[in-house]
Parts: sequence; C-alpha cells; structure tokens
Amino acid sequence: MSETLPYLDPQLPVAERVADLLGRMTAQEKVGQMMQLDAREGLPEHVLSTHVGSILHASPQRLAEAHELVARTRLGIPLLVGEDCIHGHSFFKGATIFPTQLGMAASWDPVLVERAARATAVEVSATGVHWTFSPVLCIARDLRWGRVNETFGEDPHLLGELASAMVRGYQGDGLDDPTAILATAKHFAGYSETQGGRDASEADISRRKLRSWFLPPFERVAREGCRTFMLGYQTMDGVPITVNDWLLGDVLRGEWGYTGTLITDWDNVGRMVWEQQVQPDHTHAAAAAVKAGNDMVMTTPQFFAGALDAISRGLLSESDLHPAVSRILTVKFELGLFEDPRRPDPSRQREVIATASHTVLNLEVARRSLVLLRNDGALPLRDASRPTHGGARRIAVVGPLADDAQTQLGDWAGSSGQADWILEGHPREMITTVLDGLRAAVPDDWTVSRARGADILTLAPDPSGEFFPDGQPRPQVAVPSPPDPALIEEAVAAASAADVVVAVVGDRIELVGEGRSTATLELVGGQVALLDALAATGTPMVVVLLASKPLVLPDSALDAAAVVWVANPGMQGGRAIAELLLGDIEPSGRLPISFARHAGQQPTYYNQVRGQHGDRYADLTQRPAFAFGEGLSYTTVDYSDLVLDADSVSVPVTGDGTVSGRVTLSNKGSRPALETVQVYVRDLVTSASWADKELKSFTQVRVEPGASVTVDVAVPVSACSIVDASGRRVVEPGGFELLVGPSSRDEVLLRAAFELTG
Ligand code: NOJ
Repeated sequence: MSETLPYLDPQLPVAERVADLLGRMTAQEKVGQMMQLDAREGLPEHVLSTHVGSILHASPQRLAEAHELVARTRLGIPLLVGEDCIHGHSFFKGATIFPTQLGMAASWDPVLVERAARATAVEVSATGVHWTFSPVLCIARDLRWGRVNETFGEDPHLLGELASAMVRGYQGDGLDDPTAILATAKHFAGYSETQGGRDASEADISRRKLRSWFLPPFERVAREGCRTFMLGYQTMDGVPITVNDWLLGDVLRGEWGYTGTLITDWDNVGRMVWEQQVQPDHTHAAAAAVKAGNDMVMTTPQFFAGALDAISRGLLSESDLHPAVSRILTVKFELGLFEDPRRPDPSRQREVIATASHTVLNLEVARRSLVLLRNDGALPLRDASRPTHGGARRIAVVGPLADDAQTQLGDWAGSSGQADWILEGHPREMITTVLDGLRAAVPDDWTVSRARGADILTLAPDPSGEFFPDGQPRPQVAVPSPPDPALIEEAVAAASAADVVVAVVGDRIELVGEGRSTATLELVGGQVALLDALAATGTPMVVVLLASKPLVLPDSALDAAAVVWVANPGMQGGRAIAELLLGDIEPSGRLPISFARHAGQQPTYYNQVRGQHGDRYADLTQRPAFAFGEGLSYTTVDYSDLVLDADSVSVPVTGDGTVSGRVTLSNKGSRPALETVQVYVRDLVTSASWADKELKSFTQVRVEPGASVTVDVAVPVSACSIVDASGRRVVEPGGFELLVGPSSRDEVLLRAAFELTG
C-alpha cells in the first residue's frame, strides 16, 4: 500500500505540509520556486530545468502545456499562474473589459469597483489564472507619466477606499473560494513619484513624504489581507525598492505585520545590475534580493544561476531561501492547488465569461466613469425644448477616436502590446464605439454623419535600437501626424451641415503605458487644428475627450459647448457616452485627478503643501483647468447650511471621537442628480508643513429635481492627522476647518470651524 507523502495530505495543517515539502526540495528547486518566468518563451525549460514556482503571460494554449510539464516534475509542485487582469481579464479573448482603473475611479464608488473586481475574478478564475497584478495604488501626481491610467488618481483617501474595495472583490470569500484570485497591491511604494514624468526614474521622496501620502493606502490593504505586494522599479534615496530593508522589513513586515507574499516587478533583480548599476553581477543581486525578503522574483532568468552561485560562494546559505519558499508554498496550499490546481475550465468559461450580467455591470461602470466638465446647455442633445433642424437633428461625429474600438479599451487590454496571442485585440462586435453608440441610440429621424478629421501619429523606430539590454522591446517613437487639410475640410463640411458636432479626440496606446511617458500633454497630431476648424464653423461642438489621462485642451475645446472626459471606457463605453450625450442617463462622474492648463504647471494635484511666494506663475495661473472632485450634472445642486453637531465643535484629540455634522443639498433644476458630497479637512496650524486640505470622506446621494436633502458628514478625529517632522503620524490639538462641497475648489466649499483639544 503506497503511503501518502505528508505534503500531499490535505488533512495536515498547512505549516506541516510546507515543512515536509521544503525538506524534500533541492537547492535548485528552492531557487526555482522563488522564480516567475515569462511563459511566452522557453516554457519547457522554465518548468523542467529551472523548476519555476510561477509563470505569467501564458496564453490558454501555453497554460495547458504548463500543466502537462508540471506533471512530469519530481515533486509535482503546482504553478502559480499570474496575469495582469487590470480592468477585466485583459488578454483573454472575449472577456469583459471594464473602464481602466482611472475610469473606475471617476465613479467614486467603492461598491461598484468591488463588483467589477468580483466579476473579473469570476471570469479569471475559470481560465486557470490564480493571481492578478492589480490594483495599482500609486498616487498619480505628474500627468506626463505614462501609467496615470492605471491608477485611481491623485488622492490617497479616494484611492485607499477604491483599492480596498478592489482587493475584496478579487479575493472574494477567501482563498478556498474557487472564484477567488490573489490580488496584488502595486507598485510598493513611491514608483509614481517620477522625475519629469519619466517612467521608473529615481523617486526623490523622503520617508516622511512616503508616510504622509504614499504609504497609507498600502498599509490599509496590507492590514485588510491583500495577499501579495509588487515592488516598484525605482530607486529611492539611492536604494532600489527590491533591497530596501526599511520599506520591506521595518515598515511592511514589521510595523504593519504583513505576512503575505512579495513579488518584484519585471527583472528588478537584473535591473540592479544592468540598469541601476548598483550590483556588480547577478550573483550579488540575487543574494541581496533574497536577504531583503523578496519572495518571488519576476522574470530574471539569471536569478537561478545567480542564487545558486551565491550559495556556493557563501554569500547566501540555503536556509536563507526558506522564508520565501515557505511563503510561496503556503499560498499554494491555501489555494488548495495541490488538490486542485485550478486548471482552465472550459465549461465554466462558457457559463461565466462575458455573461449578460457582466455586460450590464460593465455598462453601469462605463456610465459612472464619464465626467461632464463643461456644458453651456448644449447637452443633453435630446431635449424637447431645443430647436431642431427640419424636425430631425443632424449629428456630425468627427475625430480619430470616434470609431476606434481597440483604442477605446486602453492599456492592458487585448492588443495593447503585452500579449502575443491576442494581437488583433478583443472581438470588434463586443465593443461599442461612440459612433456605434450614437447610431444605435438616436431617434429614427435623426442623422449621424461621420468624418475622421485628423490623424494622431505614426511610429518610427527608436534610434537607440529595437531592444533594451534585458531583451525587452523598446517602444517605437511616436511621430505626430501633421494636420491634413483634406481631412479637416471634410470634417468642417460635415460639421457645417449638422446641428451639433461631436468631436472625439484624445490619445492612443502608443502614448500610454510603461516607458511611454509624454513630454507634452497637448492633443497630438492633427487634433488641435481639427478642433480649431470645427469651432470656427459656429456649429455647437461637444468634445468627447477619450483620453487615458488628463490632457491639456486648446481654447477651442475649453470654450466648446460641452466637454466630457472619458478615460478609456471599456467595451460598453460608446453606448454609455451616447446615452450621456442624448440625456438618457445623468452625468455623475467626478474627477479623481486634476487637469492642467499647461504641462509646465506640473504638478497640479490639489493637496499640495502650503508655502510659496505668491500663487501663480508670472505668465500663467497655477489653477488647474479642472480640479480634483469636479464634475457636472444636468442640473444644479446647491450646498447650504453646513452645521456641526454641538459636541463636534470642540473634541478631545485622544480617543475615538468623530467630528460630525450636516449639510443641505438642493436640486435647483429639472433633472435628478447623483451628487458626490466631498468632505475635506484643513488643519490651521501644523508643527510641520502640511497639505492645505485633504479629502477625508465622501458620500453619494441622489437628489431629485426640486428636492432638498440633508446629508450627514463625519470625519474621525484620528483622520485629522499629519506626519510630524520626525515621521510620526499624529493628531495635533488646535483649530481646524471642515470643508464640504462638490469639489476640491476652495470657492465651492462650505466651511465649519472646529477644535481638537488635548
Ligand atoms: C511590469 C509592470 O510594471 C507591472 O505592473 C506588471 O504587473 C508586470 N510588468 C507584469 O506584466
């Protein structure tokens, strides 16, 4: 009778199974277990010779092959399969692709974000992927950075709320839930604090600044049980995150008591050798990475030989690998992979991928992601009081992005470049563009004409060569297309013959993503000339800015009849936009990030530290074009009567007190509103310089036409904190203001004074 090996016995406690398995593994198997390699090439070697613990970027076909390969290994340790399922199951053909994270953030709705993440997890888990590298908790402060679209925007409180919701959605009811996937909080930490927006440049950021704004969202999800953290690429104060003992050891595992898994970003270990040049070779880099507490090393094939060499040269002992290997094995046991490796399940895929209910949810998320920035009354288009032309309305749909299905999906989706098995993108018929949406939604007697009007860019090879030193392809260089007089003439003719022109402009994938930061923020190519020419026709112009991140708009757009910002809105985006333009839904999105007037204004985030000479540039205001929290409805909601509860005017600084009160919202128009009531705190005198105000809570309320509602507002005293000069988070007694209103702009915020005593 064959005896079950202890590590294969599901009745035994996980710790015992881990110890048994660890005792059976060779040094090679332990090093391999710490490695995640790219499944797009060399899969047999990865599994059979390198003994990898994990793979990423596996097409469905390669995933099947990987399982066959694992069956041939000595110990049969199941693989952890990771993928960037960032806003939906990005690279699974025909999966539901939601708006990007920045688009979701515009909803300011954690419940909705959690539902989108849950739906994603249900789809992803049916395909044999166990682990998504999402959400991104980077704070976006420089709009030139290419990865702004992957963030929840510029505010730590908003992003903490949304990230926490997303983690809950992915991880479901816990790892034994077959629809749960591991979430990843990334990129830990400070990666977005680039210099000049340059991706992965040294982040000039102090520990105090990290503790003030960059770490709190990570701390929150660490304490709430996010199972994995991914490290940023960058160095800080000269130290790559991969070997930052203070951040990984003292803060994450020490202060926060984090017991989850740490994964490096792509070739972080190798980058210390070839890019940052702070390690002489892969042997030393591998030793340093292990000693700093990394568990999984992403895509550094040289880690295998490097770590073994480090052991043979005495830079590492084999037991130094044990904490990392144990943590990886623990996750695998907790997911139950030894009993059920959660292979792709075709019948479940048919049941759960892109279901009607996920499509309905996707449409809801897309609707909520739209932000109406300006409206002189031109919108909504379907308005009984509006004069029509010959009894029917004629809409000219103009612009290079009005009918560009794959661009609408944004980065980390289909054909965005990371996956070689879905190069043509997601099925066209699953995607509704703005043109599709309008054609489908307008009344029968309306006409929709179409002209492209402008090109955006062409691509040229990077003069530095096709590949980076680590073999990764260099993005090609974007060359702006010149304005094309013939295209403009055609668009002007269409606009002149229409009652309204809808101009859909923005950016393309070549201007978005890793290594694709932009020096400028203006609309690229012939788009500005197009907008100027359309404006000159006198036909009311509605600008739909389909842009991955806030861009700088020309006057012709800023003065247009209406402007709607749509971060890449996913498969249902065009339908949602058409509904909004026609007035079939109410605009409700609010900016999770500010829009600049000029790239030279960077940074434009609202919660800047007090203190500078004056408040403008000699040649330009410092005010953003549109500020954090802004967004219009098809009605006007007045805020009045902010009052604090009697016991909130003076509250002890210690204890778990709350500052609470009420504000009245009155809908003065004829359409309903979904209002996002934003609550900021201003600490009047702080022991160290601090942000002038910070968002501390928000709540969403429906206000019917003509109605007034009273909304409770509350902020815990513990949230009225600053980080003092010694790096401690403290609540300091003294005078404060509670600021309540529809955006971060001072002029629209009501104020109530309160005091913290102690
Ligand atoms: C590098 C990116 O920075 C990271 O966000 C992503 O998860 C990995 N590549 C894997 O694709």
